[in-house]
Amino acid sequence: MNHVRFLAWCAPMANLVLAMGTATAVDWRIFEVDLISPRNMTYSPQALMPIVFALQNPALADTTAASIFWSVWEGNNLTSPGSIIDGVLELALDDWNRTSSEPYFVTRFFNTINYPEGFWTLSWSLQLYNCSDNPEKQGVQFITTSNTTTFTVSRQSGKAPDLVAATSSETCGATVAYAYNVTGGDDGCGFLGPNVTANPCSVTINPSAASSIMAAATEMACSPMETGVYPNVSCPASPVESSNVAATFHMAAAVSTWLTLLTLVTALSHLG
Ligand SMILES: *[C@@H]1O[C@H](CO)[C@@H](O)[C@H](O)[C@H]1NC(C)=O
Ligand SMILES: *[C@@H]1O[C@H](CO)[C@@H](O)[C@H](O)[C@H]1NC(C)=O
Ligand SMILES: *[C@@H]1O[C@H](CO)[C@@H](O)[C@H](O)[C@H]1NC(C)=O
Ligand SMILES: *[C@@H]1O[C@H](CO)[C@@H](O)[C@H](O)[C@H]1NC(C)=O
Ligand SMILES: *[C@@H]1O[C@H](CO)[C@@H](O)[C@H](O)[C@H]1NC(C)=O
Ligand SMILES: *[C@@H]1O[C@H](CO)[C@@H](O)[C@H](O)[C@H]1NC(C)=O
Ligand SMILES: *[C@@H]1O[C@H](CO)[C@@H](O)[C@H](O)[C@H]1NC(C)=O
Ligand SMILES: *[C@@H]1O[C@H](CO)[C@@H](O)[C@H](O)[C@H]1NC(C)=O
Repeated sequence: MNHVRFLAWCAPMANLVLAMGTATAVDWRIFEVDLISPRNMTYSPQALMPIVFALQNPALADTTAASIFWSVWEGNNLTSPGSIIDGVLELALDDWNRTSSEPYFVTRFFNTINYPEGFWTLSWSLQLYNCSDNPEKQGVQFITTSNTTTFTVSRQSGKAPDLVAATSSETCGATVAYAYNVTGGDDGCGFLGPNVTANPCSVTINPSAASSIMAAATEMACSPMETGVYPNVSCPASPVESSNVAATFHMAAAVSTWLTLLTLVTALSHLG
């Protein structure tokens, strides 16, 4: 694999990931997490089945030290092959543009090709830190909200995952979503008021954003670091090797972008 060409491809890609999606104007201080994919439906087997969370007002992931803990398993058995039982997304540590008000999409991918018939469960918990503004209740407490989505995989009746359809006006209302009113937090520690109504329909993924997410996933799955982790992804043929000094400098400059992309679209290597 020619790293230079791959890294050069990543640079515009990372910007795309940051820029994709739109939100209607909402209270700046409402932090919301929406599960865009998977949904309660029947999917065809996928080499890269997407888990996609949308974060609205993503900078508040820092203020609330937000994390998502997730597991996905096939059938009734948490330890069945294909299951991932200890996923962690430390949103506050992720590296993205903190000043952007656009929704931010957090993605993970798993393989359902080898288990083409049956149901799966995605279980996830959103954990936020609530800094008390009450002097009698000093300190930080964390609050956790959990939910579970089941879906079916079927060769015959399944449909490919469709991130555009998942955010369409017909289906966005069914999105599992949690929203919190965050006040304060200038010192990095936000106070969470009572829950507020979530507004998942303010997030849309258009076709080009959806193909960017899936293209980035394929690029991630085909990168040398993920060899063997996603065996059913068809990867493009390796580009022709080339070596010159200019390309080496370019690679050094692109490394931080490459790391950014890795944190955006990361695989769990223990799948391999
Ligand atoms: C999931 O979909 C099935 C079939 O449409 C439906 O019967 C079930 O109530 C749904 N479950 C949830 C939690 O929405
Ligand atoms: C769950 O799957 C694992 C791995 O295939 C197997 O060893 C275990 O016996 C299964 N447990 C149950 C309750 O079926
Ligand atoms: C971050 O986002 C802001 C607002 O969208 C934009 O003006 C700025 O150029 C972005 N910075 C980077 C480094 O992308
Ligand atoms: C955050 O803590 C305060 C008490 O300091 C409490 O009144 C508030 O309900 C908590 N927020 C949430 C979302 O639990
Ligand atoms: C408010 O949040 C708490 C904890 O995060 C959760 O248990 C409860 O169901 C939420 N209430 C509403 C109305 O969303
Ligand atoms: C999980 O999501 C469903 C669908 O939005 C909702 O009806 C249910 O109350 C949620 N459960 C919890 C514990 O928040
Ligand atoms: C959020 O909390 C602030 C401060 O308590 C309050 O003024 C505002 O109305 C709340 N916003 C919503 C949407 O509940
Ligand atoms: C998926 O990859 C596994 C492991 O290499 C292989 O055994 C299986 O045949 C592949 N399935 C398909 C449908 O390509």
